[in-house]
Amino acid sequence: MNYFQRSSYFLAILLFALIPLSCKNARKENTGTEEASKSTPSVSIGKSAFGTTPDGESVDLYTLRNDQGMEVTIMTYGGIITSLKTPDKAGVSKDVVLGFPTLAQYLESSPYFGALIGRYGNRIANGKFTLDGKTYALAKNDGPNHLHGGNKGFDKVVWNASERPGQNSATLVLARLSADGEEGYPGNLHVKVTYTLNQDNSLDIRYEARTDQKTVINLTNHSYFNLSGDFSSTILDHVLQIPADSYLPVDAGLIPTGEIQPVTGTPFDFREPKKIGEDINAVNEQLKRGMGFDHCWVLNKQDGEMALAARVYEPGSGRVLEVYTTEPGIQFYTGNFLDGTLTAKNGGTYARRSGFCLETEHFPDSPNQKEFPSVVLNPGDQYVSRTTFKFSTN
Ligand code: GLA
Repeated sequence: MNYFQRSSYFLAILLFALIPLSCKNARKENTGTEEASKSTPSVSIGKSAFGTTPDGESVDLYTLRNDQGMEVTIMTYGGIITSLKTPDKAGVSKDVVLGFPTLAQYLESSPYFGALIGRYGNRIANGKFTLDGKTYALAKNDGPNHLHGGNKGFDKVVWNASERPGQNSATLVLARLSADGEEGYPGNLHVKVTYTLNQDNSLDIRYEARTDQKTVINLTNHSYFNLSGDFSSTILDHVLQIPADSYLPVDAGLIPTGEIQPVTGTPFDFREPKKIGEDINAVNEQLKRGMGFDHCWVLNKQDGEMALAARVYEPGSGRVLEVYTTEPGIQFYTGNFLDGTLTAKNGGTYARRSGFCLETEHFPDSPNQKEFPSVVLNPGDQYVSRTTFKFSTN
């Protein structure tokens, strides 16, 4: 062995001895990072003031943010999701829900943008129902019918808020007492709604309620999505799938006729992915009544089972929204009443069909339709309903 051969030989031995040592240190460093991240939650929640209602109640915004590019802002007025940012296939996060930049606009006139809906999501025919022989009269705020909880539903009140930070999720808890007689409904109803943002870019909504008198309940969220993040475009090119073999046809006032109609051979068949715009202008009496899609689909699942209720894909951005729920139905509404009069948050206006809603729910008008799953809540029982909006890309 010459001098150079000897030196390379020793160098090789030295390196061989040092590699395990440096790996050990690297492992130590990793453990260090894990410990550090335990003390700094990776899903954060922060609060800021948004304004004051005409009654002098202050309204706050809560922003939940994970480190995967998703950020959700919810306000204490109406439990409204005012903004929901999520990444596209290139990793660029954009706001994908319709809404307004100021509280004043929400107070003035909002078609339930992002709102928490109660006590009863969707319509109750002629604003009345009967429980144990007693008839209750509700506000008629949609022609002859009651819609989305009445004149001052859960979307128009300020909720008490508290926050629960965490490591892999952060939660905003909204609670309030809906007093006996509110908007005509019986019973003091204690309601709690939690919004949880997780690290896997899902937003869980959990609704809970208890009553001291027999009542009816059907809570939902009324977010309008446009997954392109461009509110000047329509949602007609989004590709939708709804695992439902049937839907509920409606009368001229959008009240279910009581029939449960198979979707086969109709524009309502979304069992295979289909562009929202593909059949929306088909000659069809139901589409005419809804001015587009504004119907409840009967999901192919067991009552109470948490299962996929809809999947939407926006080809341009690659964003995917999956909706999971314990509810038996989903109202798919294509923003047919948006008419270009409301100012959009990033300039311009919200045109017809610039957003769609997927409202997980019990069937509309259930208090008057005995064949539909029951929406009655009895004292001593707990109402629980869960929905998850899960975002990804493709
Ligand atoms: C729901 C209803 C629609 C409409 C919107 C709000 O989705 O089903 O008919 O009232 O809310 O504009």
